[in-house]
Amino acid sequence: MINLDLIVGARPNFMKIAPIIREIERRASKGDAVRYRLVHTGQHYDRNMSGSFFEELGIPEPHVNLNVGSGSQAEQTAGIMIGYEKLLTDRKSNLCVVVGDVTSTMACAIAAKKLLVPVAHIEGGIRSGDMTMPEEINRIVTDSITDYFFTTSETANSNLRRSGVEAQRIFFVGNTMIDTLIYSRPQFRKPALWDSLNLEEKSYIVLTLHRPNNVDDPANLRRLLDEISNSSEGMQIIFAVHPRTRKIINSFKNPLSPSIFIAEPLGYLEFNYLVERSQAVITDSGGITEETTVMGVPCMTLRNSTERPETVTLGTNELLGTNPDSITPAMQKLLTGQWKKGTIPPLWDGHTAERIIEIICNLNPKSLNNKTELT
Ligand code: UD1
Repeated sequence: MINLDLIVGARPNFMKIAPIIREIERRASKGDAVRYRLVHTGQHYDRNMSGSFFEELGIPEPHVNLNVGSGSQAEQTAGIMIGYEKLLTDRKSNLCVVVGDVTSTMACAIAAKKLLVPVAHIEGGIRSGDMTMPEEINRIVTDSITDYFFTTSETANSNLRRSGVEAQRIFFVGNTMIDTLIYSRPQFRKPALWDSLNLEEKSYIVLTLHRPNNVDDPANLRRLLDEISNSSEGMQIIFAVHPRTRKIINSFKNPLSPSIFIAEPLGYLEFNYLVERSQAVITDSGGITEETTVMGVPCMTLRNSTERPETVTLGTNELLGTNPDSITPAMQKLLTGQWKKGTIPPLWDGHTAERIIEIICNLNPKSLNNKTELT
């Protein structure tokens, strides 16, 4: 029997793990010897940052919640490591599976590896090259101790090979976030604001911003928002606001342009209903650039770099940088119908979780921790 720990902590983890759980349950139900323990670190804890995703994506209640809650980078990292180390000391698993690049990813990888539990990293190998992002540090630290890499792109493969990882530990499998997108697309749900704002297809823009570089300085955030509303010719901007950004917006003295509608963070099915029908998305998220690429929706990314270059070279994404002056020319391109069309990157086909679990089930048992007491 292979017992996997599946680690989730923050919003972008949930859509990456959902198809993995579905596939393990499918295989277990036909008698395959694979089981999982779902560990939620509690890094995100609000209903609209965490709970609603479990319901919408059909993720079962976590077996364990480490309840780490808010804190500085070091406080969250330390809290998660302490909690997960205790859990593993009580009951080891054969393999710790982490996803993405959040604090929980890195903290659990370290705790597992020090207790001799091998680590598999889903979405391993991607790099932005921007060491001011906590996520980049999380990626580098996690990958430096990861045993098995499940990658989303050829760029990730070559990043790993360049850093000395042997080819037999790298598995190019595609993107589990896209598994979730393809699986959930028929269930996308109209949010209440669609009718209350009289939205119509392609008549509005979806906006999300949460990176410290963009939102922590109120004057900078304000300039970005003013530039977006000034350049979009009155189009409605639906701003799905992350709690981090909400705190800064609340401190503004003057109201924002009426074309900007401030919404609470939306559930997965409602958010992607909006994205699929939007004229374009403006964001500083990484995952959203992958989803817009697959849905063929123009995407403007307010960052100087991306760890997902295929969304630019193949997909619909363009990097605008963080200078508000770059927004107007990009908006012109959009409004005059000149945005590129894009194609879908290789293996982003909805079947990545099947490939991952097949590979894990075929790993040499000697390479897994075999001191597990789970049954
Ligand atoms: C984290 C991830 C980032 C990911 C983002 C998506 C790291 C380093 N960053 O950033 O990669 O793109 O999640 O959402 O792991 N808060 C709430 N309710 C919650 C969760 C957070 O109010 O449920 C508040 C926190 O108290 C904090 C702020 O939001 O003030 C930021 O949360 P935090 O977990 O520190 O990181 P994110 O900015 O969400």
